[in-house]
Amino acid sequence: MTRIDKTPDNSTGGRPVAVSVRGLVKHYGETKALDGVDLDVHEGTVMGVLGPNGAGKTTLVRCLSTLITPDAGTAIVAGYDTVKQPRQLRRVIGLTGQYASVDEKLSGRENLYMIGRLLDLSRKDARSRADSLLERFSLTDAATRPAKTYSGGMRRRLDLAASMIGRPHVLYLDEPTTGLDPRTRNEVWDEVKSMVRDGVTVLLTTQYMEEAEQLASELTVVDHGKVIARGGIEELKAKVGGRTLRIRPADPLELRPLAGALDDLGITGLATTTVDPDSGTVLVPILSDEQLTAVVGAVTARGITIGSIVTELPSLDEVFLSITGEKPSAPQDARPELEEVAV
Ligand SMILES: Nc1ncnc2c1ncn2[C@@H]1O[C@H](COP(=O)(O)OP(=O)(O)O)[C@@H](O)[C@H]1O
Ligand SMILES: [Mg+2]
Repeated sequence: MTRIDKTPDNSTGGRPVAVSVRGLVKHYGETKALDGVDLDVHEGTVMGVLGPNGAGKTTLVRCLSTLITPDAGTAIVAGYDTVKQPRQLRRVIGLTGQYASVDEKLSGRENLYMIGRLLDLSRKDARSRADSLLERFSLTDAATRPAKTYSGGMRRRLDLAASMIGRPHVLYLDEPTTGLDPRTRNEVWDEVKSMVRDGVTVLLTTQYMEEAEQLASELTVVDHGKVIARGGIEELKAKVGGRTLRIRPADPLELRPLAGALDDLGITGLATTTVDPDSGTVLVPILSDEQLTAVVGAVTARGITIGSIVTELPSLDEVFLSITGEKPSAPQDARPELEEVAV
């Protein structure tokens, strides 16, 4: 399992809690959008809230942003109660919604300036904050063009910039890369990582496993308004699926005989093996160290020489499938992105 360029500090232990949610409920008629959600996000970390469409992710973000009032439960963000202290709370949060929220007719600079003014910055401060954020999100060259001429990636960066104007302590990112192509998605991830390095606490909702792996240190998996799993990424993987043995026979011609031998073993509880011809390996899901020993022993007893053997943790996709019974959305769902050319 490779982990690429994770956020700098992964550990949450000992850090104070920046977002504390207890028993949050929001029903729309029969629909239980939130049905008693508990979660804690520690300062300076990224909490990934993972769930399929309709799981309740946006409803959670809306409650935490004071845009809607929960039916029951409490949420404390940076020390403020979302229901009792909405005004103070709004000053310390930033929000990037699932859908772009910038004004299309205004230029990037005008959009940021306007938000700065709405946040009570002086004209001078709003101007300088807008310019430094345009610089920071690589939008200086496009600063004076109307936002409607921006590519999807530039729009998303403008959105992120807009959410940073008020120097939020806590930032909510609601599916920040849904619909973006892989390259643009990577750009957004880099921006989020750099914000986290600056100390921002992030609550990120996503349907993409890869996004969660890239950005989050901890995960809360929600479905039908309920938390169905939580923990560190490795922890969730370990909890769910046991491990997979990937065995390569020393002689490539022994690939099929090896798979056949494993299927004949009759080890109790051992799932069926799969052959991966591309890599010349056989995959065997195992649930215990005893099974591992039994597999290796039996293969050797058949006179098949093992070239290499590695154990793999399940992928986050497998974790998701096993807890929700649904396949996660594949990043290929993304629509092709406009090229970022100057107009
Ligand atoms: N304003 C609303 N009125 C009625 N139903 C809603 C409203 N907002 C959300 N829902 C329903 O609540 C559930 C959770 O929605 P949402 O929080 O948007 O999920 P997600 O963001 O995870 O896709 C869905 O079934 C959705 O249809
Ligand atoms: Mg949503």
